[in-house]
Amino acid sequence: MPAEFFGSLSNHKTPPTYKFFNGNEWVESKSKKTTDVISPIDNHVVGKLQVVTTKEIDEVIEKAKRAQRQWEATPLNQRIKIMHLVADWIRHFEQYLTSLLTAEIGKTHDEAKGEIVRTADLIDYFADEAQSLKGETLDSDNFPGFEKGRIAMIERVAYGVVLAIAPFNYPVNLSASKIAPALLMGNSVVFKPPTQGGIAGIHLARIFEKSGIPDGIFSCVTGGGSDVGNYLVSHDDIDLVTFTGSSDTGVAIAAKAKMVPLVFECGGNNPAVILPDADLHLAAREIVKGGFSYAGQRCTAIKYVLGTKKILDQLRPIILETLKDMVKPGDPRSPETKLVGPVISESAAIHIEEVIQEAVKDGAKILTGRKRKGSLIEPTILTSVKPEMAVVKKELFGPIVSLIEIKSMDEAITIINNSSYGLQASVFSRDEGSALNFAKYLKVGTVQINGSPQRGPDHFPFLGVKKSGVGVQGVRYSLESMSRLRPIVLNKPQ
Ligand code: G3H
Repeated sequence: MPAEFFGSLSNHKTPPTYKFFNGNEWVESKSKKTTDVISPIDNHVVGKLQVVTTKEIDEVIEKAKRAQRQWEATPLNQRIKIMHLVADWIRHFEQYLTSLLTAEIGKTHDEAKGEIVRTADLIDYFADEAQSLKGETLDSDNFPGFEKGRIAMIERVAYGVVLAIAPFNYPVNLSASKIAPALLMGNSVVFKPPTQGGIAGIHLARIFEKSGIPDGIFSCVTGGGSDVGNYLVSHDDIDLVTFTGSSDTGVAIAAKAKMVPLVFECGGNNPAVILPDADLHLAAREIVKGGFSYAGQRCTAIKYVLGTKKILDQLRPIILETLKDMVKPGDPRSPETKLVGPVISESAAIHIEEVIQEAVKDGAKILTGRKRKGSLIEPTILTSVKPEMAVVKKELFGPIVSLIEIKSMDEAITIINNSSYGLQASVFSRDEGSALNFAKYLKVGTVQINGSPQRGPDHFPFLGVKKSGVGVQGVRYSLESMSRLRPIVLNKPQ
């Protein structure tokens, strides 16, 4: 069945070369250029993706622009039906998509499966929620200086052509979380999957196509960020850019994009603050889960822990014990492996190793971990880390958690608020009232009390401040982000 459904996407060679979707058919690029998708597990080439030309991008965007009005005019219930069908197909191919994710990006089986199941549920939720998005009417009755009787009818309408750029760490989920709300709100979508994860992205695109999206409304273009990505983001006919990826790339895209709305989820280097009365066993479990899931390659991963000397002295052995229970690094295809498989590439692993070495040179100590074999890095905990070290200052997408000793809770606030990132923070305390008060001082998108940072549940608002993001996502919030208000004012004839 997968062969029948997905068979025509590639040329079936080993490794297969995949086509791109130009809005109505799967084709090879005229560029005759491809880019390799390399598995982080053993460096084998999983497949090859087309590098599309600028002319092909122009054509895809032109089609998207032309088809959009008709799509927006399509009754919402029809768009909703299509989305439910997408969710059903994703569930139907759960196993197949799961194994693709493991091969392409090295997620463990459970994590990959979790991403697929979550995506289907998310799309269903989007489709259900779209029903309840309502406009409103306002009248001029109470506003000083305006006569009675003006009425504003305010509707939510599409922006037009949305560009959706997804990252490698959730190539299915963070693609669908952009594509589905944009389509539901009547936009057409140009989807640019990441290179690693691009094969899964192409399969997702096939599912959208097969579920009944009309010609031109949805396309999937592939190629590197430097040429294809840059051309897309600065294109005159893109009406909104939604992107997940590193903060550096986010800043670069924002500088190139025309004056269009941006919905960005960027990097994070999320702290966990341990207040003196915290439940340390709970904190340790959340730190290990938060720091090491998917080898620390989540924008919501815990990157550093702040506590006084007394607290950290007690916490260190508990974390080590918890780590032994909860984490088993290894081949992501093995059922033995828990949380830590390889990072996305050997070059990424080498970079992480260098940053750890630099921290050690500057006085940090290795509590556990550090060794690297290919793309696999042992779960690493550093102590005696200073906030100005690169291991804390820059988002490091790897299985590393740094412990930072502080003198006071005020110092914790200063460290967190001085960071250029501001995605999430965790605060641990048995006294929820104190944690709540503390949370209000933190300049981050979301504070989690007694839990690790995370995006889900997916209908909660998800946002970053500073270099961690622009705009708000989450089921209803994404539907709102992907649409604008259109007031039409009925004036009273004089
Ligand atoms: O990497 C960024 C993702 O949005 C994080 O999602 O918290 O569910 O792992 P997550």
